[in-house]
Amino acid sequence: MTKVLFVCLGNICRSPMAEAVFRHQVKEAGLADKIEIDSAGTGDWHVGERPHKGTLAKMAEYGISTEGMHARQITAEDGQTYDYIVAMDDSNMRNMMQVFPQTSATVLRLLDVIDDALTEVPDPYYTGDFAQTYDLVERASKALLKKIIREQGLL
Ligand code: 4NP
Repeated sequence: MTKVLFVCLGNICRSPMAEAVFRHQVKEAGLADKIEIDSAGTGDWHVGERPHKGTLAKMAEYGISTEGMHARQITAEDGQTYDYIVAMDDSNMRNMMQVFPQTSATVLRLLDVIDDALTEVPDPYYTGDFAQTYDLVERASKALLKKIIREQGLL
């Protein structure tokens, strides 16, 4: 089983969107039994909450399930549990490294896997632009799946 964790700040906007989109793509690729997916936030303000209504609206628009998803905070154990830990921005990278300075996981930023002028996923909590975030997450998630399939020898 390959384990993938998406990380953002609050775990209500970007990383739950990435989790839901990636899970949807993994299912479509027939790899649901080979790849396990979760998301978490570096902050604790929204622990237990459902994704932001803007994220929920985008997922509903594209027919992507968010069933059972609730915000949680990253833990030191996550650094030992996951094979890939995928951050939305540079501050997430810095904050994660404080929680697990040493990790066996491949740690990267989501936009590292696509060619785009942006290297950080804009935070729609502040921009209000969930469509822009969805577009980036959807494209990068596809590229991430290709990378993981290749690196883990799946399919
Ligand atoms: P996210 O967005 O990191 O994409 O979930 C945010 C959600 C909440 C807050 C900041 C960013 N907040 O400050 O509460």
